[in-house]
Amino acid sequence: MIPEIRKAILSDVPAITEIYNEAILTTDASFDVEPKTLESQNKWFGEHGSKNPILVAEIDDKVVGWVSLSRWSDRCAYSDTAEISLYIKDGFRNRGIGKKLMRAILAEGEKVGLHTVISRITGNNNISIRLHEEFGFENIGVMREVGKKFGKLLDVCMMQKIY
Ligand SMILES: CC(C)(COP(=O)(O)OP(=O)(O)OC[C@H]1O[C@@H](n2cnc3c(N)ncnc32)[C@H](O)[C@@H]1OP(=O)(O)O)[C@@H](O)C(=O)NCCC(=O)NCCS
Repeated sequence: MIPEIRKAILSDVPAITEIYNEAILTTDASFDVEPKTLESQNKWFGEHGSKNPILVAEIDDKVVGWVSLSRWSDRCAYSDTAEISLYIKDGFRNRGIGKKLMRAILAEGEKVGLHTVISRITGNNNISIRLHEEFGFENIGVMREVGKKFGKLLDVCMMQKIY
């Protein structure tokens, strides 16, 4: 089944949250450890203006993945820099949806005038690191043992794409 990629709307927030919370609880891809509330996720959604797009992938009217380009910092000089987040629902991974969302959000980022996109990826997440490399991200360094989840110390691989 071919997913439809479209801009996220406020009513997608519960589905986005469900996908993210599942990843929080079952993977070390996110350094969040507590599930997000709908309230905080609605706030997160509202912080994404025209320069910070959020896209979803939908199959049979059901959201199965999302990607965002969030502000890297609220300090104004960083306004052309965004941080990418990309999550596919368990059971829908490894079907090309991540790649589709990545391609679409990078095109969107270019369209809205971003200059660069940063990604913080858990050091053991080889699938995500390779996916980013395929789309022109370069490794700009590794922060060693900065996270601890499920009893394991974790590195963070910093990756960056410049348009
Ligand atoms: C990482 C993630 C976003 C990738 O999205 P996806 O839809 O599963 O990936 P795709 O199917 O588009 O595949 C992308 C590449 O990864 C490879 N891949 C995906 N899943 C794989 C798996 N389980 N084992 C080996 N390779 C895999 C694909 O073969 C493809 O590589 P290719 O271009 O060489 O063929 C997704 O798996 C996910 O949400 N994982 C959990 C959360 C996460 O890690 N998010 C990223 C945070 S930085």
